[in-house]
Formats: sequence, C-alpha cells, structure tokens
Amino acid sequence: MWSSAVVSLLLAFTSIVGAAPAPNVDSDYEYIIVGSGAGGGPLASRLARAGKKTLLIEAGDDQIGNDNTTVPAFQAIVTQDPKMRWDFFVNHYQDLERAKQDPKFAYDIGNGQQYVGLTPPPGAKPLGILYPRSQMLGGCVTHNALIWITAHDSDWNYISTITGDDTWAASNMGQYLDKVYEWQSISSTDPTILLRDFQLTQHLAAGAAVMGAGPKPLDGLVGVLGTLLTDPNGRVPGRDSKEGLFQIPLITSGGARKSVREHILETVDEGYPLTIRRNTFVTKVDFDSSSPPKATGVSYLQGANLYKASPLSGGQGTPGSVKASKEVILSGGSYNTVQLLKLSGVGPAAELQKFNIPVLSDLPGLGKNMQDRYEIPITAAHETDFPLLKGCTFDMKDHDECYKEWKNNPNILSARGAYATNGLAATMSVHSDFADTSDIDLYIFGSPTNFTGYFPGWGDDAVRTHNNFAWYALKAHTRNTAGTVELRSTNPLDTPIINFNYFDTGTTTDGADKKDLSTLVQALKMGRDAFDRYRNEYPFFGGSKFTEQYPGPEVQTDEQLETYVKNRAWGHHASCTAPIGADDDPNAVLDSKFKVRGVQGLRVVDASVFPKIPGVFIQSPIMVVSEKAADTILSGH
Ligand SMILES: Cc1cc2nc3c(=O)[nH]c(=O)nc-3n(C[C@H](O)[C@H](O)[C@H](O)COP(=O)(O)OP(=O)(O)OC[C@H]3O[C@@H](n4cnc5c(N)ncnc54)[C@H](O)[C@@H]3O)c2cc1C
Ligand SMILES: *[C@@H]1O[C@H](CO)[C@@H](O)[C@H](O)[C@H]1NC(C)=O
Ligand SMILES: *[C@@H]1O[C@H](CO)[C@@H](O)[C@H](O)[C@H]1NC(C)=O
Repeated sequence: MWSSAVVSLLLAFTSIVGAAPAPNVDSDYEYIIVGSGAGGGPLASRLARAGKKTLLIEAGDDQIGNDNTTVPAFQAIVTQDPKMRWDFFVNHYQDLERAKQDPKFAYDIGNGQQYVGLTPPPGAKPLGILYPRSQMLGGCVTHNALIWITAHDSDWNYISTITGDDTWAASNMGQYLDKVYEWQSISSTDPTILLRDFQLTQHLAAGAAVMGAGPKPLDGLVGVLGTLLTDPNGRVPGRDSKEGLFQIPLITSGGARKSVREHILETVDEGYPLTIRRNTFVTKVDFDSSSPPKATGVSYLQGANLYKASPLSGGQGTPGSVKASKEVILSGGSYNTVQLLKLSGVGPAAELQKFNIPVLSDLPGLGKNMQDRYEIPITAAHETDFPLLKGCTFDMKDHDECYKEWKNNPNILSARGAYATNGLAATMSVHSDFADTSDIDLYIFGSPTNFTGYFPGWGDDAVRTHNNFAWYALKAHTRNTAGTVELRSTNPLDTPIINFNYFDTGTTTDGADKKDLSTLVQALKMGRDAFDRYRNEYPFFGGSKFTEQYPGPEVQTDEQLETYVKNRAWGHHASCTAPIGADDDPNAVLDSKFKVRGVQGLRVVDASVFPKIPGVFIQSPIMVVSEKAADTILSGH
C-alpha cells in the first residue's frame, strides 16, 4: 500500500488542513468538488461549514502573496502570468479564412513563439483566438476583471418556468445572494481617485450626457457625480431596466481583490472539515456498476501545470484516485466540466463512440448550447497621457510609483490611487433599440486603457500607453446558443475543440444574429456620440485632443460598423454547456437540482449549468447558484 508514489504524492500536497488524513482513508470524504472557482469554491466552503467532510481538488496552486492576483489594476497583467494562466484557443468562426480576418487571430510560428495579426509568416500554424482562463485557487475569480453585477430577475424566473421548480423564482433567489454577501464584500472605486483626473472626468461627463444627463455642461458634471454614487446592483424596483451612467462594483475590500480564494482559505483556517488538494488534475469521474451508475470518486494526476493549456505544461503527473461516500460535484468551468464528463462516459453517444468511450449516459445536449457575450470597443489615442496613470508601470518594479502608492496605503482607500481601480471608470447602462424585454441589454464601459480584446500579450498592450481611452461595449442577453465544446482526443490533458459560431454562423431564428449585431453597432455610435460631446460640450475641463483609433473615422456606415464588429468582437463569459432543463427536454444535461441525468451521485455547479446566459455579468449569478446548490445538497435533495 505504501508505494513510494503514494508517499511522494502525499508530500506533494501543498496543504492538508485540519487533522491530516491518513493516506489510505481517502473514502473519508463525503463530497468531492472538482474546481475551486466561482462555482466550486463557495459550495465547498458552505458544505464544510455545515460539517461535511469535503475535498476540494484544484488543478492550480493558490498564488497567495502574488500581487498580480490582488491589485485590481493588474487585472489585465494577471491573465498573462504563466504560473496560473490557461490559454484556450477558440474559433469564433469555423471557416478559417473568415476567422483570420480578426487581427487578434494567433498563429504558432514554432519555438514556442506566436504571431498575432493579419499577415502571418509562411508556414505559420493557425491557433485561433485566445480565450484566457486560469488554474488557481478561486479559479477565474482570482484573475478576472472583478466586476460584480447581479443577475436580472428574468434570469432566475426563466429557469423556474422551464423546469417547473419554483425554488428558482427570483423571489426565492435573493436569499442566496444574501448568503454570498456573508463572505463577499463589494465596493466601487473611490470617486475621488477618478475625479483627480480632469481628462477622465471630461470623458465621463460626456458619457453621462449621452445617457441623458442633459447637454449643458453643468448637467453633465452633475451627471458624473450622480453616476459615481449610483449602485447598479441596488435592490430597488425597476432596477433591471434602469438606464444611466453608473459606477462599477468590484469584488474588492479596501482596494484589493478579495473573493472566493480568500473565502475558501478562511473556511479552512476556521477549522471546518475542508481539505484542499492543489496541483491535482482530475482526469475522470469513477462510477460503480449499479444501474444507473453511481459516481464513487475521481481519478487524477498529481503535479503542477499538467494541462496543455498551461504554457508551463509538459509533465505527466502521478496517477491516483480518491473516493466520495456521498457525491462528486464538477465545477471545472464551461470547458473542463464538459471535457471531464465526456471522458467519463457521459455525453452525446455518437461523439463518445467515435473515441471508443463506453457510454454510461447518453446526453446529446452536453457541450452544446454554449453562450457568451459579444464585446467591442471604440478607442481613442490622446495627445497627452491621463494624469491618473502617471507613474504606473504595471510591473511592481522599483520605478512603479503607483504600486508603491497602493502598497504603502493599505488602510486609506482614497490614497491607494489608480491601482485600487480595475481600470474601468464607469459604465453606461443601456436598454438598446433591439432589446426583446424591458431588461437593459448593453453596458458600455469608459476606460483609460487600450483594450481591444484578447490575444497573446493583450495585457501588455492594454496598459503600455497611458494616452488611450475606450468606450467598450458588452452585449447582455445575447441570443446565440450555437457554441460547442467537443473532445479533441481521449488525452485528458489536451484542450477541447471550442467553436463559438458567431453571428450568422450561429443562431439566426427571428433575426437573432442581426439584432445582436445591431445592438453592438448602436453601442459604437453611442461611444462616438460621447467622443463628440467630449470635444464639443466639455472643453473647459482641458483634456487633450484625441483621434479615434478603432474602428477609425473611415468606418462610418452601418455596414462598415457591422463588419468591424463581426471581425473583432470577443467574449469572456462562456457558459451554458451543461444546461439545467425540463425532464422532457432531450438536450437537458442537468435537472433543476444540478444532478447529471442518467447517473447517480454526480452534479455540476459552475458556469455551465445555465440554460440561458444570465444578465450582464456572470460571476455573481454563478456564486448565487453555488450557494443554492449547497442548500439543495444540504437539505437532502
Ligand atoms: C479575463 C477574464 C475576465 C473576466 N472578468 C469578469 C468580471 O469582471 N466579472 C464577471 O462576472 N466575470 C468575469 N469573468 C468570467 C468569470 O470569471 C468566470 O465566468 C467564472 O469564474 C467561471 O466560474 P466557474 O466556476 O465556471 O469556472 P472557473 O472560475 O474557471 O473555475 C474552474 C476551476 O476548475 C479548475 N479545474 C478545471 N478543470 C479541472 C480538472 N480537471 N481538475 C482539477 N481542477 C480543474 C480550474 O483550474 C479552475 O480553477 C472573466 C473571465 C475572464 C477569463
Ligand atoms: C505577474 O504577471 C506577469 C505576467 O503578466 C509576470 O511576468 C510576473 O512575473 C508576475 N508577477 C509575479 C509577482 O508573479
Ligand atoms: C492598442 O492596441 C492595439 C492592439 O490591439 C495596437 O495595435 C495599438 O497599436 C495600440 N495602441 C497604442 C497607442 O499603443
């Protein structure tokens, strides 16, 4: 029993907390949760806090002490950190020639080098569009853009309606948001940090004017002040359709990122029976031979950076397995949960048979129905830099004055400076001309950065210059449900094949694609309107002149703007790949209690569970779902 592999494996566990479990009592765990992100982290903590012996398995480590994960302004830089990043290359379009029209398209040019752009060197191997993800305690919550926008009521009511399970009704879901708020503090950028910068204030006043604060200069200024005091998550009637220019709530406390990772670690520190296994990559769910098959545990490979999405991958890892007496819960995210289920014999029979994987449960809907936002910016280059960013080098080196300011003022939020913000100053909240319901369906963020989407090196580009400003749009309640996640091979360390099937190559019923496209064109025009107002209505602020960079003044007609959007849009809320649905829906993967259909003892709790992409931002709905799942499990459902 005490093979050297087992011993070294045990030594490799970076943290075994509470009473150290003996090596052969793996079956001691009641619940095993795979993945510690927005879906898995809160659930694991809640189960442990209820006294359940819980094992949380995470492919990455914790990166405690790495300020890339704590400084809000490093949200772009952190996604490039090789210690934690998982690079997925995805297809927005399956037609390669069309896909290559995106200047963010990446190629492998050998020797570990990549080319990004429209004119690759001969022999360059197409990779696709970078989709950043992360392996690390807290999952993508530890490297994301920190924005906290709660779901719309319609998101929950939809699940309730299609499943007939009224515990999903919005009127019942508020209690789970309250549970999240027991450990998640939300704060917005201190307005005084933003208002120090007249050039930024000039842009924000223009944005407030676009949102109806009135054309007169004073109204715009009043609009900005009102803005910075308006909470877009306010639990007030009419909130879901409220337009305006709002502040951006962040998952921060005292100007530093604090969320799922810290919650998990506090749960452990407080002595609850939660064990974390870091650097452990789960390769398969193990089932017994009962009918229907029951999940008994998981098989894994122990070792750091094993998954091929990691730039540091290459190791093979040490195999092992662990048992759960009650349940296994998958929270690996929209790509990895699908991959893991398929490799375990759960999924579309035809696809599994192609890979000679024995089919335990034929679930044709798994890995389909993938949804995401569409995002697109209008960007400007100024003659002079934004004062707010003076001294910010985004590298924590000696010359990084903004880092010093942040580091040296841990207790005075207003004194922490630019690094206490996530770089996004405020957002227009818009009900577009193309919305299907009364819910707002567009956020347009104002940001003194050069953010044009994801590609290798995007984080460096976003912050290298200090003279850029963007109004960048995020389309909420998107209509495209045509994304897919499919196996590339039976090697669990390979990434899956990910197709988003954007716009006309996706859902086109009732002009779905055209409506989404038109909404984004409207957003670009609103951004331009704000640029015009900056120039014409608020010159007394004294901000410097600028030229529009993207899409650029030559891109004017709706058709030209549409082409710009189709070629360059991106997303980062991939979801809905293992959807909850009605019992008679052949494409439903989960029932309304998160149970995987056709097997026992297995649930999914992460971004993949939604039948429809929720609201405007996704981490808040996922954490709410995570708390709901804990309640469902603990109350014996
Ligand atoms: C760059 C970026 C910025 C974003 N900004 C925002 C934002 O501002 N606001 C917002 O609401 N949302 C944002 N998001 C989206 C949000 O962070 C994610 O949608 C959310 O974290 C997904 O939660 P999840 O639990 O489904 O998966 P994740 O948070 O990705 O967690 C999954 C975890 O599972 C682990 N895992 C996966 N497979 C295995 C395996 N086989 N074995 C062991 N462990 C495994 C992974 O290492 C990871 O830690 C952003 C995303 C990105 C990429
Ligand atoms: C932060 O991330 C960058 C990559 O963007 C990396 O070069 C740097 O080493 C990281 N810093 C730390 C402290 O790990
Ligand atoms: C902004 O980023 C883009 C890449 O998306 C780059 O082409 C452009 O040169 C950058 N702008 C500046 C001013 O650095």
